[in-house]
This record gives sequence, structure tokens and C-alpha cells, in this order.
Amino acid sequence: MNRHSPWLKVCSPDDLTNGSFTEFTLTKGKPEDQTTDQRGFVFRRSGKVYGYLNRCPHLGIELNWMPGRFMDSDNCFIQCSTHGALFLPDSGECIVGPCQGEALTPLEVSESRDSIEIRLPE
Ligand code: FES
Repeated sequence: MNRHSPWLKVCSPDDLTNGSFTEFTLTKGKPEDQTTDQRGFVFRRSGKVYGYLNRCPHLGIELNWMPGRFMDSDNCFIQCSTHGALFLPDSGECIVGPCQGEALTPLEVSESRDSIEIRLPE
């Protein structure tokens, strides 16, 4: 039995240039289950693609207040717009803020010639 979520195409590789973000909505579980939509985002940094759920570990709310804007003013860390928590882009670990020591929920990411796909963690 396959326990992984299906892969979901979220954009084309050409859409995700270095430093850019793509947001998306995904549905976890089957319709008959208690299905909840969740928001996520992918971004490319130094050529590599990363993906996380768009949910701050502090209060469980979305990180950004403007579409596609997730980075701090120095473009070094992912920043929560509500209380300013800073997260390492490559691991999602919170290094400063009220949820220090916690982390963003990572998504599995796959990049091929035609698509960037993600799937939810179990
Ligand atoms: S909600 Fe993100 S730091 Fe408080």
C-alpha cells in the first residue's frame, strides 16, 4: 500500500527563477475524510528548489502578507510577517522569534525538465 500523497505539479521550472516563490493550495486526504486545504510555497535558492507549508509554527497562520513575499529585508531568511520569526531557507528551522527551535513543515520536491512537483509529508 502506498502511503505517500500523490505528486502535485505546482509550476514549471522556467517559472521559478532564483529567488522567486510560487504559492499554491493543496488538499490533504480523501474527500470523505476531514479534508482541509493547506497553502504551501516553493522557491529556488542557489539553483535548488525548496518547499514548505505556508504555516508559521508559532500560531499556525500563513507567513506572508503579500503574494510571493517571504524573505526578510536582507533576503537571507524566510520571515513571518506577523511576529517576525526568521527561518533558515534550506531547513525551515526557526532561529529567531517566538517559535525558535521549531521549524516549517517541509514538502518533498521533485524537479524535472517540465515540472516542479511537491507532495505532502505523511
Ligand atoms: S505567527 Fe509567526 S511569529 Fe508569530
